[in-house]
Amino acid sequence: MEPAYTVGLDSISREYDRVQPPIEGSIPTWLSGTLFRNGPGRFETDGRSLNHWFDGLAMLRRFRIDDGSLTVSNRFLRSEEYTHIEETGELRCDQFGTTAPGSILDRLRGVVNPTLTDNASISVDRIAQQPIAITETPNVVAFDPKTLSTEGVVEYTDGLSITGSLGHPHYDFDREMVVNVGIRFGRTSEYVLFERPVESAIRREIGSFETDCPAYIHSFGLTERYAILLESPLRLRPTALLRDQAFIEGYTWDDDRASRFLLFDRASGAVVSTPHVDPCFVFHHVNAFEQPAQNRVVVDVIAFEDSDVIGSLYLDRLRSGEEPVPGGELRRYWLPVEDGPVEEALLCDGPIKFPMVNYRQVTTRPYRYLYAAGHTDPPAIGLLNSLVKYDLETDTRTVWSEPGVYPGEPVFVPRVPAPRPGEPATDEDDGVILSVGVDTRIDRSVLLVLDAASFSELARATLPAVFPFGFHGQWYPDGGDLHRTMP
Ligand SMILES: [Fe+2]
Repeated sequence: MEPAYTVGLDSISREYDRVQPPIEGSIPTWLSGTLFRNGPGRFETDGRSLNHWFDGLAMLRRFRIDDGSLTVSNRFLRSEEYTHIEETGELRCDQFGTTAPGSILDRLRGVVNPTLTDNASISVDRIAQQPIAITETPNVVAFDPKTLSTEGVVEYTDGLSITGSLGHPHYDFDREMVVNVGIRFGRTSEYVLFERPVESAIRREIGSFETDCPAYIHSFGLTERYAILLESPLRLRPTALLRDQAFIEGYTWDDDRASRFLLFDRASGAVVSTPHVDPCFVFHHVNAFEQPAQNRVVVDVIAFEDSDVIGSLYLDRLRSGEEPVPGGELRRYWLPVEDGPVEEALLCDGPIKFPMVNYRQVTTRPYRYLYAAGHTDPPAIGLLNSLVKYDLETDTRTVWSEPGVYPGEPVFVPRVPAPRPGEPATDEDDGVILSVGVDTRIDRSVLLVLDAASFSELARATLPAVFPFGFHGQWYPDGGDLHRTMP
């Protein structure tokens, strides 16, 4: 029998435009702004299922909150990928776990001049005030912040040449820059550290690092001076780009390799340290900060034993509900900036995914609270069914769960107005958690609003349908400057 959460892996066809869902409880009146979220909304081409959860066609979700009221919208991104599927019934480009039709000759041409998908389903960002949908290719797609209608792929004019890009850019609030990592695939591949002003689409390469077998990397860590990549043993085979296989199938877990951190000096662009650690796999970095006295950086990640978690997220395996989805744990590494030992510690066991912190306040700094989606019954079978708050100072956890409810990424929104410079900081957990989940008892998605300090439920909106499980999003407060965005 299919598990109950499978309803969150079914395609949705209907699009809702600013409907008012019923709300239980009260949304705080200070909470005024828009939560944009992204993720798959459709999992088929011409009746055939795509292979992997990450392959689904991008669907934007919009939650507009104002003075305690809420409107909800969902709209598919009219990407070239989407349009091609509508017209031909087939994929235009290879996706994460599903190949597009094409000959080996097409693939040979593609190595030189690859056509990369614009199915931008991972998260959202902004260029100045213009919201964009982003994914792991450099193709980002602009959309209207009110109607969610698609405005087209952003045409960069900066000359930066990359064939891949991480779906988790960082924000340097002091310098008003967006910092990200790309990859140039080739005979010798390169990781590319780059940045752009928050108000501009002009990207600038800071530095690059060559590798013969690039690792699959989904996010990175940032401190004031360093950008930190973690290369797992999940490496691209050199001939993989020529084969008729999906993107991730070109990667294999190399039992002979350790994991390796790369510390990019953000000023010079040089990699100054490459400390090795035991093999592990990471989707999400949590936070990082420097300890100058010890000449080291602290890097927190959600670590998995290996990359089996990727295989567990193929749709047929998820829908069968027969196998555990491996869980991640919060792991801390202390990395030398020059020579020296690496230390590591387990801070919180899991299984957890989708980590979140009070990003505006604690990014690049020591921090106390971590929020995540978790599972109440490890080892987890299927998708995550709780929200978890960890207090790293007292080593305690608080759990929110309800039978039949499968929450998504918890987004932390700080209470506003925030203190001005010179005023005392608010508590790190002073704010709310927003999480869009699926209530399988009523076959509807819900927007949960939790008080971040007590982790108790303040409000719940019942959406007009099930919005399939999504990935990531951003909260943009009304009147907020460009700096106050989330990771
Ligand atoms: Fe992610």
